[in-house]
Amino acid sequence: MTSRVTPVIVRTHVSLFVRDPEASAQWFADVLDMKITARGAAWVFLSFGRKHHDIALIRAEEGAQQGGLGLQHYGLEVEGDLDDLRRLYGMLLSKGVKVVKTTDHKVGFGLYFEDPDGNRFEFFVETITDDEEGQRVLGEHNAPSEPVVLDPLYT
Ligand SMILES: [Fe+2]
Repeated sequence: MTSRVTPVIVRTHVSLFVRDPEASAQWFADVLDMKITARGAAWVFLSFGRKHHDIALIRAEEGAQQGGLGLQHYGLEVEGDLDDLRRLYGMLLSKGVKVVKTTDHKVGFGLYFEDPDGNRFEFFVETITDDEEGQRVLGEHNAPSEPVVLDPLYT
């Protein structure tokens, strides 16, 4: 009998190549309210407040370009409802962050933006909070990403 070994994922982190880790770290601290938890010669690690790091910024090779393959975006589920997402939209715009699009996923709404190197992130709020129901609805609608107009809030 063979036993199946399966990974049990507890949390995730992402590691990104950037041109200037220290400069980008300031952006992540400002826009995402992250805390710098460690740094090395060519990297800075940041945390959302609980884990030792959630995002690592690694210095890219000189002359490196954003490619057509690789990370498409990194999604960050945020606490709150649609108005909270609209407030984050206002925050991004007021900080001059490039917002790419806003979408309706049927299970929630997404707000996509880019860091100084063009790495794409998504703030998303869930409108269906039950995970089982969320999986069912997403599958039933073929994981839609419909453009939606969201008005930024500046309060
Ligand atoms: Fe996403």
